[in-house]
Amino acid sequence: MGNGRTLGVGLIGLGVVGTGVVQLIQKNREDFKKFRGVDLDLRRVAVRDPGKPREVDLPTGAFTTAEALVEDPDVDIVVEVMGGVDAATDLCCRALKSGKDLVTANKAMMAERGDEVFSAAAAGGASVGFEASVCGGIPILQALRDGLVANQVESLYGILNGTTNYILTRMTDEGGSFDEMLQEAQDAGYAEADPAMDIDGTDAAQKLSLLCRIAFRRRLDPEHISKEGIEGISPVDIDFARELGYTIKLLGIARPLGDSIEARVHPALVPLDSQLANIKHEFNAVEVVGSAAGPQVFTGRGAGRLPTASAIVADLVDVAQRRLAGRGESADLARLPEAAPASPDSVKISAYCRFTVFDTPGVLAQIACIFADHNIGIAKVIQHGRSESEGDTVTLIMTTHEARESDMKRAVHVIGQLPVVQHEPKVIRIEEL
Ligand code: NAP
Ligand code: HSE
Repeated sequence: MGNGRTLGVGLIGLGVVGTGVVQLIQKNREDFKKFRGVDLDLRRVAVRDPGKPREVDLPTGAFTTAEALVEDPDVDIVVEVMGGVDAATDLCCRALKSGKDLVTANKAMMAERGDEVFSAAAAGGASVGFEASVCGGIPILQALRDGLVANQVESLYGILNGTTNYILTRMTDEGGSFDEMLQEAQDAGYAEADPAMDIDGTDAAQKLSLLCRIAFRRRLDPEHISKEGIEGISPVDIDFARELGYTIKLLGIARPLGDSIEARVHPALVPLDSQLANIKHEFNAVEVVGSAAGPQVFTGRGAGRLPTASAIVADLVDVAQRRLAGRGESADLARLPEAAPASPDSVKISAYCRFTVFDTPGVLAQIACIFADHNIGIAKVIQHGRSESEGDTVTLIMTTHEARESDMKRAVHVIGQLPVVQHEPKVIRIEEL
């Protein structure tokens, strides 16, 4: 290979991910020239505050504004790692329409405004790489798009958010407090600028929507993904889950059901001996069931500087090679049919239920009756001692057999109204995997 054709790179954002991108370009530039035939020349960098100290050395005069960067004729490929939706979409679409390629880690933008981004790319004959927006360093989009091209994807599920997996792991293994573990995840650079996006399942739902786009070739608005976060998971649930032989993980699950897609993000009890139970800290994992290849598990670091930058730089090399070969984005990804969300009546779940009840005779029978009235069978019951929890109440744990999700919701609502039941019941799905 020769010295590689030189392409100008413009970077918008020099925070956790942007800094890693600079480090990896600088470290690998010579190898890319020699072995990939591309010379990635970082020419412009846009930040909010150019006066802030930075961890990397940049070419003199590199700093500019994002608006100037997307208009700059010396920039061939824009890397967007500033985050946010509206301003980022506007900048990225302007760059793409003028023929610049785009590499981004911004799942919020790609999940919510992806159609506009792909249309702008098709209009400008440019390419979009967004591998880093789903599961950090794991090349899952490439695997779905290329490696599994001969398969219909029958289902996919996994751990799609590093911050919540970090918090749950540390709470489970070391008894850490939720707030302290969240602070650690933020300090490590895993969390979103607004960590509520991680905690309430929004980030995982955005990633699941992008996975559905590539795996099922359908658009599924993240708003149509049923979503629950880890806010309500208490150490009590973690302890009872362990006693039952499970651990708690935040999962994203999607499978086609006829013309619709069942897609949901929620905490779930998973068996202690399952592969997902052993995915710890900021690691993510996705199991994909392909019609020809069968089940495959992809795992690796889902958040953090270098893992995310690794996916960005892989996309950079890929779009650079596409540019040199004269291949841009087709409009296919913008024109995918919309998938309807699956109706709750078609979704079946089994569940762990925690009730705080007055310690009086007949409580168990009342609850069991309501479950039976809704066609829900009880699998296991745990109650330790008498009146241990608070005042004259006890904690009652029940797990159920599989039942319609809609029946489960109605039954738990009715149980929650019983005079013997204190507090809102806590329900967590069980996924046997
Ligand atoms: P970050 O550390 O907060 O960095 C954001 C960067 O963007 C900062 O350098 C900031 O400038 C710059 N910026 C913000 N608004 C700007 C504007 N209007 N014009 C120019 N620059 C602007 O965020 P991050 O963690 O690197 O995340 C960036 C993106 O990557 C997000 O979309 C996120 O969802 C995604 N992502 C992150 C991870 C991760 O592990 N962190 C993993 C996958 C994907 P200043 O430095 O001057 O403040
Ligand atoms: N906040 C995200 C996470 C970053 O914790 O998974 C990676 O997308």
